[in-house]
Parts: sequence; C-alpha cells; structure tokens
Amino acid sequence: MLYSVKNLTGYFPDAMENVYNTRHSRQATVTNGVHFMKNLKLFALCTAFLSLLTLGACSDEKGEVKLSVEQEKSMSERLAPAGKISMVGEVASAPATSTGGGNRSGEDVYNTSCKTCHGSGMAGAPKFGAPEQWTARIDKGMDTMYTNAISGFQGMPPKGLCMDCSDDELKAAVDYMLEGSK
Ligand code: HEC
Repeated sequence: MLYSVKNLTGYFPDAMENVYNTRHSRQATVTNGVHFMKNLKLFALCTAFLSLLTLGACSDEKGEVKLSVEQEKSMSERLAPAGKISMVGEVASAPATSTGGGNRSGEDVYNTSCKTCHGSGMAGAPKFGAPEQWTARIDKGMDTMYTNAISGFQGMPPKGLCMDCSDDELKAAVDYMLEGSK
C-alpha cells in the first residue's frame, strides 16, 4: 500500500513485530493476548490515518506517500504507544472545570429554577412581586441573602435546585427577584 509496513517498522519495530507475530503464529496469539489488543488499537489507528492520507490525494507516481514535516510529526504523535494517545477531541474537551455557563441572566435562572416556588410563594417561599415578604429578609443584608440562596436556608434548597448554576448566576437571580418585588 501507500505507506509500506517497512516504513512503519521504522517507527515501531517492536510493535510491528508483535503485529506480525500475532498474525502469523497461533502461539503468539495466545501468549501475546495483551499485546495483541494494544497492537490492534495501534493498527486500527494506522489504518484510519492511512485512509485519510489516501483521500488527501498526496501520492506521487510511485504510489508512495510523501509526508511533510508536520505530517510526520503529527503521525508519530498519533502512533505513540496506546497509553499516551491523545485524540484531538479529548484535548479540546479537557478544561471542564467551569461550574456552569456563568452567563445566564438572573431572569433566565429565575424562570427556570426559582419561579416554581417563588412565583407562587409555595412552601413559605417569599413571593415574587410581594415587597412586604422581602423587607425583613433584605434587612438581614444582601450577603446573607446570597449565601442562603447558594447554600440553602430552611425550606430554601441549596442553589434553589439549579445545581449547575454558578454563584454569580444565583446572585443575579436573587437581584432579579428583589428588583421585581419592590
Ligand atoms: C423548592 C422551592 C424553592 C425553590 C426551587 C427556590 N426557593 Fe428560594 N426559598 C424557598 C423557601 C421555602 C424560602 C424561605 C426559607 C425560609 O425563610 O424559611 C426561600 C428563600 C429564598 C431566599 C431568601 C433567603 C433569606 O436569606 O431570607 C432567597 C434569596 C431565595 N430563596 C433565592 C432563590 C433562588 C435564587 C432560587 C432559584 C435559583 C430559589 N430561591 C429557588 C423555596 C425555594
């Protein structure tokens, strides 16, 4: 084929030998079970990558693939030992440390998560649009209100049950409720 086995052997002599063994010796298949699985994965990756190259129409008259320096680099990275393979998608999704979108408006959060209780005053929740139910709470100070909204307070569940809400989103929701209850 395009990128000959001989060339691949240059990259991973041991691995290719295992592939060869497992394909040509029954005994090797039994004793090299683990290697076989690893190499199978490696082999699948090679095949997938080579197919991509084929589609890329980069063969010359001799039917061989000429790789640019970057392609060589990218290929050897992709062909790295199984435990070290990092697929493009995985790298992109790595920084998943955010506690939430952080950009929903107070109104959005209120409508989605708080309205159920605060819209009707259910379970003793101070009602949206009823200033007298909020004054005593406002007197405790805004920090207390925010903390109680985030951590929960008696009948008020932590985060108002919006478990993926960030603190800022919850504060915005509190502000929105107070704004609408003046
Ligand atoms: C399951 C019903 C319920 C949901 C959902 C809910 N709350 Fe509450 N909330 C309550 C109740 C009940 C209280 C009154 C607690 C008390 O004073 O005993 C309350 C009180 C509060 C208070 C006043 C706390 C204080 O210090 O007096 C704030 C602020 C608040 N909720 C914010 C929110 C926000 C923001 C959301 C949505 C993200 C939300 N709540 C969702 C039931 C709910």
